Amino acid sequence: MRSPYSYPQRVIAHRGGGVLAPENTLAGLRLAHARGFGAVEFDVMLTGDAVPILMHDDTLERTTSGRGQVGTARAADLARLDAGSWRDERFAGEPVPGFGAAAALCVELGLWANVEIKPWAPGGVAVAERTGTLVASASAIAFSPARVLLSSFSPEALRAARVACRLDIACLFDALPANWREQVGAVDAVAVHCNAARLSKAEAAAIKAQGLGLMCWTVNDPEVAQRLFDMGVDAVCTDRLDLLSPA
Ligand code: G3P
Ligand code: MG
Repeated sequence: MRSPYSYPQRVIAHRGGGVLAPENTLAGLRLAHARGFGAVEFDVMLTGDAVPILMHDDTLERTTSGRGQVGTARAADLARLDAGSWRDERFAGEPVPGFGAAAALCVELGLWANVEIKPWAPGGVAVAERTGTLVASASAIAFSPARVLLSSFSPEALRAARVACRLDIACLFDALPANWREQVGAVDAVAVHCNAARLSKAEAAAIKAQGLGLMCWTVNDPEVAQRLFDMGVDAVCTDRLDLLSPA
């Protein structure tokens, strides 16, 4: 059995600053740091011209002032959008950050990063592989190996990331699939990230028995977090930086 993967903190800030800031923005990363968080998760997608940016959705409407598909847009056009006002007018004018700027800010603030590789879904396997390759390569340049963990729901993206770099990888699952051990082995993953609402005690024990790290998302109730820790879960990812303490 390998020596177990260890997270720098038990509570990780989801999408940068959770619900206290616009998701996947530099403002969110700064807020997480200001609240004492040392570990953040954020999502990285490619624009149509293959520039990695922080973005969760395939489309722009929910979190920006723009419209349409992320995966066919030009990075220069996305750079002009407001990605802050949807959360609160206090964040008006907050830009959609490039991955490089977000990674540099993490390094500057001492934030460990779970970089979730989020392929633009309509692009299929080709875009998933390109996203895995480019985000992994950029992460290997931006971060020291101990300060970053790559993850993705996309097996194609993770396989491409594994070819592109030797950084630590986590397999990200909603319901744990029957072949999870095979998926972990295919990319030599060091951790498994699961939906807290769907993970059973037996599944948690089986994952830990393999010497893997185990993180659960998205946990916004301190009592639920404690129950998961008692089950052997190593870390939780939260939107509620005001309710869950990073310590
Ligand atoms: O990486 C954990 C979590 O962020 C996965 O779900 O949809 O919030 O990216 P989502
Ligand atoms: Mg995510």
